[in-house]
Amino acid sequence: MASNVGIYGLGKAVPGRVLTNKDLESLVDTSDQWITTRTGIKQRYIAEPETAASDLGYAAALQALADAKVPAAEIDLIIVATTTPDMPFPATACIIQDRLNARNAAAFDVSAACSGFMYGIEIGQAMMALGYKRVLVIGVDVISRLIDYEDRSTCVLFGDGAGAVVLGPVKPEYGFVASEIGADGSGAMLLHVPAGGSRIPAQIASIEAKQHYVRMYGREVYKFAVRIVCESAERVLNKAGITADAVRWFVPHQANVRIIEAAAQRLGIEPGRVYINVDRYGNTSAASVPIALAELAEAGLAEEGALILLVGFGAGLTWGSAVLRWGGYSK
Ligand code: ACO
Repeated sequence: MASNVGIYGLGKAVPGRVLTNKDLESLVDTSDQWITTRTGIKQRYIAEPETAASDLGYAAALQALADAKVPAAEIDLIIVATTTPDMPFPATACIIQDRLNARNAAAFDVSAACSGFMYGIEIGQAMMALGYKRVLVIGVDVISRLIDYEDRSTCVLFGDGAGAVVLGPVKPEYGFVASEIGADGSGAMLLHVPAGGSRIPAQIASIEAKQHYVRMYGREVYKFAVRIVCESAERVLNKAGITADAVRWFVPHQANVRIIEAAAQRLGIEPGRVYINVDRYGNTSAASVPIALAELAEAGLAEEGALILLVGFGAGLTWGSAVLRWGGYSK
């Protein structure tokens, strides 16, 4: 069922430092050729030591507010999707709220890894049904902080970044036409960071055992990803009462070009309708879908009325999908 909630404005931010496949060749036993053929990634952005999630999230949020022409004081809710908050508490959303001077906004974080942004927009729609009017949803991760740059199986995959959207009411038939979020906790250990929480707090032994870094069973995650992207996308297309032919743009989570292409092929969406930027950003976790969407809008590729299919997946295991009819608002 349509929520009459749409996107008023978008923004994105990445750190200044670029890490290329060539650079990685000097850190671990890998090659540009291996990374390119197995993942499609050519480069990623890595935050400087002094840059935290709130810095990137704030920069993306400022752009989104300007694009939406909505003053910060009119935002009544800020949702930040992140697995790399500035600190365990307060929520990164509160830190960003203060910097934006969005004094009328409630603020909290959502933890759903790479699906976080999809969870954020689902919650945003639900909160708007409760009466919230302008919701800022930010997906941000400084995932490089959780990466062991001696582990070639993970360090080539990820990059840092932020994307943000302002949600607001739109004309009937526009905005989010159908959506879902889901989880399968039986796969929690397929992709996780063992330490740094209440089970294994930071201690010398956990640092020495490299337990603060991402552990990933790549092949299992790969299989899950291709399956769930197709299943979840088909469910929301069904809910929206449309088939894949009607989708103008498929904007999936950017983890690996092979996952994207395999899923698109199974869904029957040809390459010209699939948005891919993983080559330039790597996997930016919760930021990946909103960065891709912001680029699509910036390039003028999202025409009024176009149907856009968004799909995210990630640790948890989690997923989320949405069909969005672009536009329908007057700025
Ligand atoms: N450079 C060179 N060789 C490598 C590298 C590397 N960077 N990494 C692994 N290899 C080697 C392996 O050691 C292995 O060697 P072996 O055959 O001698 O044992 C060989 O390459 C093949 O390794 P596989 O893991 O089987 O390679 P695969 O084709 O599965 O690709 C990859 C690995 C890219 C990680 C893939 O499995 C994948 O993309 N999985 C999904 C990951 C993902 O999307 N994660 C994010 C989820 S979102 C979130 O919430 C964070």
